[in-house]
Amino acid sequence: MGIVNKNDLTPNLLRHVAIIMDGNGRWASKRSMSRLKGHEQGAKAVREAIKGCRELGIPFLTLFAFSSENWKRPDEEVNHLMGLFRYFIKRELAELKTAGVKVNFIGNINKLPRDVQDLVKLAASETSHNTDLVLTIALSYGSQAEIVNSARKLAALVQSGDMSVEDITEASLAAALDTVGIPDPDFVLRTSGEKRLSNFLLWQCAYSELIFQDVLWPDFNRDCLEKAIEEYYSRCRRYGAVSV
Ligand code: IPE
Ligand code: IPE
Ligand code: MG
Repeated sequence: MGIVNKNDLTPNLLRHVAIIMDGNGRWASKRSMSRLKGHEQGAKAVREAIKGCRELGIPFLTLFAFSSENWKRPDEEVNHLMGLFRYFIKRELAELKTAGVKVNFIGNINKLPRDVQDLVKLAASETSHNTDLVLTIALSYGSQAEIVNSARKLAALVQSGDMSVEDITEASLAAALDTVGIPDPDFVLRTSGEKRLSNFLLWQCAYSELIFQDVLWPDFNRDCLEKAIEEYYSRCRRYGAVSV
């Protein structure tokens, strides 16, 4: 498979890969290990995905790391995940910075422990000048809440007289989402065999290709990424029109 050329103007050009990283718990259960071990192994697969996208020249990668609904999990698991986010950012930041990765977070960051919030802000500011790969990490993220927030921002502008009702358009609503400035995903890949979006980028995925793989996230590797890309390029995107 050839390297993706950022300047290629073919309509199918792959610019943005979004991944629902699922199956850590099942990976651990299959090995009679605690779910927490599955999350630890999952962090290694995150490195594989970032490295793969960088090497293939894909400019945008979005990873679903923790959903707004994942707060419902047992405290022990949530605390362990927060510890992993803390460890991951501390450990990887220097390398991401030199590798040209711009780190960006979407979701309700205010719900995270204070020190994780500080790390998230630090990672974003320290890498803000990078341009090779925009890595967006969805943390405490829920798409329905994101859309509600966007609607509220527009409603407040209408209420204050700074915007008219007619100015509420698909473009203005999208511009008030957390993902402003990031193109819509070309494909969403979900691992673990589940076939649902689980409140991930519902607005942004209106025309994304959906790709499902049975691999459990901790086993995800470069080969899985390349297979997904191959599947993406075999699809015909029509956006409601007829194919040429
Ligand atoms: C995905 O793996 C990681 C997070 C949701 C944080 P899961 O923990 O959902 O793993 P399964 O689905 O239980 O196997
Ligand atoms: C979606 O996975 C969230 C992440 C991968 C971070 P879940 O495991 O939480 O989704 P459901 O509960 O199976 O829909
Ligand atoms: Mg799951």
